[in-house]
Formats: sequence, structure tokens, C-alpha cells
Amino acid sequence: MAFRLAVLVSGSGSNLQALIDRLHGRVAGVEVALVISNVPGALALERAERADIPTAVFPLHEFPDREARDRAMAAAIETAGVDLVVLAGYMQLLTPAFLRRFPHRVINLHPALLPSFPGERAIADALEYGVKLTGVTVHFVDEGVDSGPVIRQEAIPVHEDDTAASLATRVHALEHRVLPRVVELFAKGKIHPPGPGSRVVRVDDSQPSEIDW
Ligand code: GRF
Repeated sequence: MAFRLAVLVSGSGSNLQALIDRLHGRVAGVEVALVISNVPGALALERAERADIPTAVFPLHEFPDREARDRAMAAAIETAGVDLVVLAGYMQLLTPAFLRRFPHRVINLHPALLPSFPGERAIADALEYGVKLTGVTVHFVDEGVDSGPVIRQEAIPVHEDDTAASLATRVHALEHRVLPRVVELFAKGKIHPPGPGSRVVRVDDSQPSEIDW
């Protein structure tokens, strides 16, 4: 059975590319069904087009407000019959009304070990703070900024001679492994959202990945 993704992007789309290369049409029925951007001309859209994946663009300035934009976007996602919405470098907050339409079906990738270093400067913030370990978090999206329940985290050391650029290179390489693995686990029903009053996500990671790394 197919497990259909909508991937929301604003920038270069290297994580979208990892989903296309590792999962799309290959593993656990995963299909990238739709790629959506708020930025016309984003490189990520070219990556989708190259893989024959439908794209849609919802720039904020074309709508009266964020609610209207997100309503149109949610309608497109529902029409495409999507099982999971993946934010892969989508640099806008989603409205509460959008999130209510997809409960526990919207996930985000963040380039730090949350709850440390939320926001857009996560890699530089971690380096400047002087932490010795940083990494990648995939989490459910709630109404806050990078604040939803954690699904998976993986860590890497910060080297003494790291610059923001060298650290970013290693964090991004890790992201390209972690995000496809989380989506594979979702497609296989191995991720169980938190129950009422809890933020603990249960993940059954006991079977090896089928991804050909
Ligand atoms: C990634 O570092 C992701 O964690 C952050 O935005 C970046 C997107 O990179 N949210 P790309 O567009 O996938 O190359």
C-alpha cells in the first residue's frame, strides 16, 4: 500500500532530495505525492520537477493572510490523499487551523538537539554556545517554534576547529540519513504518537532499515 508524503520546502531541498533518492518508489510504499513551497523558484521545486513529482506554490503575498494561505494549502494536501506532511526546510509557521486538520501527521526536521537551539540559527547558536555535542531532531509539529514531541534524535561531536560551515556540512549529512529513516518507520506503522497528557513518542526501531544507503 502506498504511503503518500507532502513535503513542504522553502530552500535548497537537499532533504527532499534524500527522501526522493532513498525512499520514493523504493521503500515501504513511500511516494512523495506533492512538494509545496512558499517560495516561487526555490531550488527544491526544481528537484521535485526533475523527479516528476507534482509541485504547488503558496506565497503568502498572494493571500489575504496566513489563515487563508494555510487553508488553501491544506485543501491541496487533502486532495492529494497525503498520509504524512514533512517540513524539510519550510521556513514559515503553520497556523493552528492547519495543524488541527492533520493531527500527529505533520513532522519537522531541525538541525540541533531540541529543546536546545530552536529557531533559524540553530547550527551557529550551538557552535557559539560551545556545546560539545549537537545533532538532528525530528519532531511532531505543534503550535510553537520547534517545540513539539520529539520522535528521533541523533548526535554528533562538535570539533575544536569547527566553523559554522564545517559543522553545517556534518549536520546536513546526518539529516539526510535521519529524516528518511523516520519516514520509513512512519510508513511501517512503527511510530506511535503520545497519548493524552504525554509528550513521549514510542518508536519501534527493532527491525533493520530497508533503505539502500
Ligand atoms: C535543514 O537544515 C533543516 O533542518 C532546516 O532547514 C534546512 C533545510 O535544508 N529546517 P534543505 O533545504 O533540505 O537543504
